[in-house]
Order: sequence, then structure tokens, then C-alpha cells
Amino acid sequence: MNDEQFRDILYRQDLDRELIKVLLAAEGSQMEMLLRRALEVKLEHMDNYVHLRGLIEYGNVCEKNCLYCGLRRGNGKVARYCLSDDEVLSCARLAHDLGYGSVALQSGERSDPEFIAKIEYLVREIKKIDGGSLGITLSLGEQTEDTYCRWFDAGAHRYLLRIESSDEELYYRIHPRDAKHSFRTRVDCLEALKRTGYQTGTGVMVGLPSQTLDHLAGDLLFFRDMDVAMVGLGPYIPHPDTPLYRFKGAIPSAKERMDMTLKMIAVLRLMMPEINMVAATANQTIDPQGREKAIQAGANVIMPNLTPGEYRESYFIYPDKACVKDMPDHCQTCLDIRLAAIGHRIQYNAWGDSPAFTKKTKK
Ligand code: 5AD
Ligand code: SF4
Ligand code: FES
Repeated sequence: MNDEQFRDILYRQDLDRELIKVLLAAEGSQMEMLLRRALEVKLEHMDNYVHLRGLIEYGNVCEKNCLYCGLRRGNGKVARYCLSDDEVLSCARLAHDLGYGSVALQSGERSDPEFIAKIEYLVREIKKIDGGSLGITLSLGEQTEDTYCRWFDAGAHRYLLRIESSDEELYYRIHPRDAKHSFRTRVDCLEALKRTGYQTGTGVMVGLPSQTLDHLAGDLLFFRDMDVAMVGLGPYIPHPDTPLYRFKGAIPSAKERMDMTLKMIAVLRLMMPEINMVAATANQTIDPQGREKAIQAGANVIMPNLTPGEYRESYFIYPDKACVKDMPDHCQTCLDIRLAAIGHRIQYNAWGDSPAFTKKTKK
């Protein structure tokens, strides 16, 4: 395909599976054209702001056994922890003091009543800081609709639940095939989150064993069909203490996974110009400039880690996580500088909701 034909696709309104695959296959100068166009679309629709979510990794106890994740129940090497109320609330206060505008509370999946009640309590307490000035994103896995409602009523308004892969067969190649890891339930949870009123986000890993361009194109169509308000996607990073690690020789190289992640972000920005898209920390793990590259390819959200230093090394979803030894104020200065260098600026003291969602709820 010559450059002119390729450029035409970049301006098409309704990208279908075949065109999406053409874009995802782009290399060299055509890949550059794609990324540049995505940046242009982002700037047109949402300016050069980056929104921050101060990430609080509440605990690493997990009931599940996802085949790729270091926190899986079956991994006996992890020292399990759970933050105290004080620790969570001082992280949230720190986020507020640093002007982050929002926090994201994340943990391994738990469904015990104590956990559900605790989260409800913590959300209410975080909401008390400065009269509810902090936005709250939850990323706490699959729960009942009733639980989602309780947390929403307590004050959370965004929820991130990655589908991991929208292809059912691939989903079951990276999860145990049992009732606890049901693809159907995961999709149902996303529907329940939307019904509850959350700005709902999902996402996938890029570069999984046996993942094809067709799978990835399907993922992007899934995001569009679900009409989600946010997406977080990032490269898959093999973790040595997980079953999927044995396929590590059969996945694309780190550079290929990074490039494919950037193309996924860029194509999605063309398809959904006004959603929030996270520049995942995993990007930075495989490329020191990974997060900035994701921002330049169309992402507009960064989640700086606020988890107290002593616990960070226990939240090893994947190896070599970025900023593990950096303190929050260091990350803030670092981010200001890194983003200014690529013509972006942080929007401080704002929730940073996606225009896609705000418009929908105003209708
Ligand atoms: N590599 C990259 N991302 C991973 N996640 C879990 N394990 C890995 C891994 N090995 C992501 C999943 C999950 C999120 C919490 O972390 O997408 O949703
Ligand atoms: Fe648990 Fe989430 Fe890791 Fe799966 S991906 S094992 S649910 S922390
Ligand atoms: Fe954490 Fe740069 S963002 S040190």
C-alpha cells in the first residue's frame, strides 16, 4: 500500500476490522504517520493535558489464578500485604496535596464481606478529604452488581476492569478454565459497571502468546462496541513465577510489543477520540521512554504510584516495574519535566473525566 492510500485510511470515520488490521500492521514511516495522526486527533479533541491518578496498591492478596500475573493465588513466593486505613488515607491526602486530582485504588481480587465493607469505608473517608475534591477510580476486579453499587454510592465514580483479551478462546489460554475465571462473567461485570453509572474502563495486554493481529483488531472493536469511557492497555511482560512464562520464547520482542502497544493506542484514538487512555506503567518497564511514547501516540492519563515504598516490591504483577524506588514527590517533578519535553502539561487539581463520558451523561 502506498503512503497516499494509507493516509486516506487515517481519515476514515468508520474503521472496520480489515482497515484496523492494515493500520496495526503499519511499519516504518507509515507507523509514524499513524502515530502523528493520532496525536493530532487527541490534541484537537482534548488539548495537550495529561491527567493524573495517584495509584494506591491497596493489597496483593488475590483469589484468582490468572496464568500471567505475579500476584496469582498459586504464587507462593509473594509476601502478601494489605495497607492499613491510615496508610491508604495518607496516600490519598498526599495525592490531594500534590494536586493530582484523583486517586486509583487497586488490589488483587477479593470478594469477602470484610473487604467489600472496608473499601466502602475507605472510599467514604477519601471523599471527606477537602470536601470531596478527589476523584476516585477503583480497580478491584469482578464483584457483584450490589457491591459495585455500594462502592459507587460511597463516592467512587470510575472503574477499570480489563477484559485482558476480548477473544474468548485466547482468554481461556491465559486464564484457568473454571468458574472463577469465566469470560462471560467478566463481560457481565463490565455491563453491570456501566449500568451502575461508573465511567467504565477496560483494556488488554499486547503481545500475549499466540495473540494475532486479528485478536488485537477484535479488542479495539470490543472497546468501541462496549462504548467504554476509558481504556488501559499495555505490553504483556512475562513473569518468571507464572505458568505463562514458559511461552516467553514464543512472544514478540520487547520492541515489537512496545510498537504494537503504541499502534493500538493510536488506532483507538482515531476510533474513539474522546475517551481517556492510560499510558500504562508497563510501557516504561520495557522502554525507558515508554510512557512518553504512549502519550505521544494518543494516551492522556498517567498513574503515578503512591503506594508506600516498603510495599511496592510486593506488588510485582510483572517484573521490573518502573518507579519502584522513587518517592511520590520525585515522580511529580520527573513527570512535569518529561511531559513538558514532549509538549504536554499536567492538569492539576481536576478529576479529568473523559469528554466522551461527560457528554453522554449530559445528554
Ligand atoms: N504483564 C503485563 N500486564 C500484566 N497484568 C497482569 N499481569 C501482567 C503481566 N505479566 C495486568 C493485567 C491486569 C492488571 C492489573 O495488570 O492486565 O488487569
Ligand atoms: Fe489477581 Fe488481577 Fe493478577 Fe488476576 S490479574 S491474578 S485477578 S491481581
Ligand atoms: Fe516516577 Fe519518573 S515518574 S520517577
